Amino acid sequence: MARETLEKPETVQGEKGELGLFSPLAIRDVRLRNRIGVSPMCQYSSVYGMATDWHMVHLGSRAVGGAGLVMVEATAVEARGRISPQDMGIWEEKHIQPLRPIAEFIEEHGAVPGIQLAHAGRKACTHRPWEGGKPLTRDEGAWQPVGASPIPFAEGYQVPHQLSIDEISAIVERFAEAAQRAVRAGFRLVEVHSAHGYLLHSFLSPVSNKREDEYGGSLENRMRLLLEVTAAVRAEIGEKMPLLVRISASDWIDGGWDLDQSVVLARELAKRGVDLVDCSSGGVAPEAKVEVGPGYQVPFADGVRRDAGIKTAAVGMITSPQQADEIIRSGKADLVLLAREMLRDPYWPLHAAAVLGQEVEWPPQYHRARP
Ligand SMILES: Cc1cc2nc3c(=O)[nH]c(=O)nc-3n(C[C@H](O)[C@H](O)[C@H](O)COP(=O)(O)O)c2cc1C
Repeated sequence: MARETLEKPETVQGEKGELGLFSPLAIRDVRLRNRIGVSPMCQYSSVYGMATDWHMVHLGSRAVGGAGLVMVEATAVEARGRISPQDMGIWEEKHIQPLRPIAEFIEEHGAVPGIQLAHAGRKACTHRPWEGGKPLTRDEGAWQPVGASPIPFAEGYQVPHQLSIDEISAIVERFAEAAQRAVRAGFRLVEVHSAHGYLLHSFLSPVSNKREDEYGGSLENRMRLLLEVTAAVRAEIGEKMPLLVRISASDWIDGGWDLDQSVVLARELAKRGVDLVDCSSGGVAPEAKVEVGPGYQVPFADGVRRDAGIKTAAVGMITSPQQADEIIRSGKADLVLLAREMLRDPYWPLHAAAVLGQEVEWPPQYHRARP
C-alpha cells in the first residue's frame, strides 16, 4: 500500500526541535502539563469490576509524581470482556462511584485523569498473571468469550463465540455507554483499547478475523467495528474531550496487520474525531516474533504521525529522561507513555525534570525533598 507523506499536518503541533518532554500538550479543551503519560496497566485488583483503595493509591501516587496524564487500566465495557475476574469494569452504573474520587484526586494533583475502555474478546477469561495467567476452567467460573471468528487465541483457550451482526451492534453500544459513564465519573480523556489482540484488534487483524460478512475480509471491513466504536464514543463524550485509540501498529507476523494499514486506519480515525493514536504492537498471536529493545515501538508512532498527520503517543521500553525527551524533540511522537518504569518509580517525571534541568512544581508536602 502506498504511503504518502503529508508535508506539514495541521493536526500536529509545533515544529521539529521546538518542543521538549516538559512542554505542555493541548488537545481540545484539555491541557497536559507535560508530555509524560502513565500507560494503562491492569492491576487485577478489582472486585466485581469495582475500583478499590489500591487503585486510588497506585494512580494517585503517579499524579503526585508529576505525570501529565494518568490513565486508568483497561476497563471492561461488559463483564465478559474482562481478561481476568479481577479486571476493572465500567459496565454498570455502580462502577462510577469508586472511580469518581480517583479521577478527582488525579486532577487535583495537576494530572489529567484518563481511562482506557476495553473488551478482551477471545483473550478474556484467564487467571491474573501472578496466579499463572491460564484460561479459567468451568469449575473456576469460566464464561464464554466472544470474538471476530471462532478461532482460539492459543492452545488451552476457549473457542470464542463468533459475534453476530446484532451482537456487534450491541458491542458498539457497550463502548458508548461506558464512555458516557467515564464522563460522569470525572475523566477528562478517553482511550479506546484496540491493541494487544483484544476484541477490537482481533477484528482489525487478518490473523484473527476470518469473517465473510461486512466486518471481515477487506481492510475497510476489518476496520468497520473500530470506526463505529470511535464514532459512537465521540458522540457520547462531546467535542471538548480528547479521544485516543491504542493500536497494535504491527502484528509482527507475515500477512498480519502492519504499519501501512495502521496509517490508513489512523486517517479514518481522525475523520471520526480521534485526536491521537497510541502506537503499541503485537498481542494477536503467541507465535509473533517481536523485536524488543529500547524504544522499539517508536518507529510506529513516528510513521503514523508523519504519514497520517495525526498526533501519536510512543510507548514501549522508554525508560530514560533523555530518550523520552529526544522522542518529543525529534518530532517522532507528541506524547510518551511509560508503563513498567512508572511502576519502578512513581515520581519518574519529577526525577526526569531534574535530570533535564527543567523547573517543575513539586507537591508542597514534598518540598523539603526537592533537589
Ligand atoms: C502490569 C502491566 C499491565 C498492563 N496493562 C495494560 C492495559 O491495561 N492496557 C494496555 O493497553 N496495556 C497494558 N500494558 C502494556 C503497557 O501499557 C505498555 O504498553 C507496555 O508495558 C510497554 O511499555 P513499558 O516498556 O514502558 O512497560 C500493561 C503492562 C504491564 C506491565
